Amino acid sequence: MSLERKYVEVKTPRLLIRPLQPYDAPSIFTMRSDPEVVKYTSHSPDKDVETTMKAMQEWQEAGRYNFVVELLTQDDKESGIKTDHPVAKRKFVGVIGIVRSPEIGYCFSREFWRKGYATEAMQAFLGLAWDHLSQSGGFGYVTAQVDTENIGSNRLLEKVGFKKQKTTVADYESPVLGSVRDSFLWQLDKPLSS
Ligand SMILES: CC(C)(COP(=O)(O)OP(=O)(O)OC[C@H]1O[C@@H](n2cnc3c(N)ncnc32)[C@H](O)[C@@H]1OP(=O)(O)O)[C@@H](O)C(=O)NCCC(=O)NCCS
Repeated sequence: MSLERKYVEVKTPRLLIRPLQPYDAPSIFTMRSDPEVVKYTSHSPDKDVETTMKAMQEWQEAGRYNFVVELLTQDDKESGIKTDHPVAKRKFVGVIGIVRSPEIGYCFSREFWRKGYATEAMQAFLGLAWDHLSQSGGFGYVTAQVDTENIGSNRLLEKVGFKKQKTTVADYESPVLGSVRDSFLWQLDKPLSS
């Protein structure tokens, strides 16, 4: 599947969630070059934009269902979203998507942490995820795998209703932390109304 599959987007009071595009590479590079951002993942900070583009290519080949989260501009709020999506006018906040069905993944730039954006984006993205998962494997739930010490990510999942299923010991290795890490597996069942 390509990054340009059926175009769907969601607007929240503060955010636009729209499909990831190749021109997002520089913003994603800036986010993923920050060691604090990738600390609880199995990859090193991106060293250049080519590394980011290679990762994006791999996501595309794997058929990931990836979306970019942007801050709505005042103009977006007053006049509605224009179809040409002038990316330069909106600030890039982060990425959210289905990594491999039914696992969800997300990553936000550090300057936007702790403002409720991940909660807002997740709640809106789940609407898209239910439709996507029912078409790709018939899943009636989403999962997330999170380092046991990733306080923000674990709190986010708990807040939006995920339930902790189990702990996986020695689940992955973090190059930034230089250690083998334990993870919690979280699950959220599709609401009956979706
Ligand atoms: C995890 C992450 C997405 C959270 O994004 P965010 O926009 O800061 O989340 P929110 O502002 O919506 O906060 C959600 C909840 O988590 C809490 N929280 C977020 N970061 C926190 C932190 N560092 N310490 C304590 N609580 C934290 C918030 O206070 C809020 O809970 P509350 O409403 O009860 O106060 C963001 O920190 C991130 O991108 N981290 C790096 C990438 C990553 O770890 N991804 C997940 C890999 S599994």
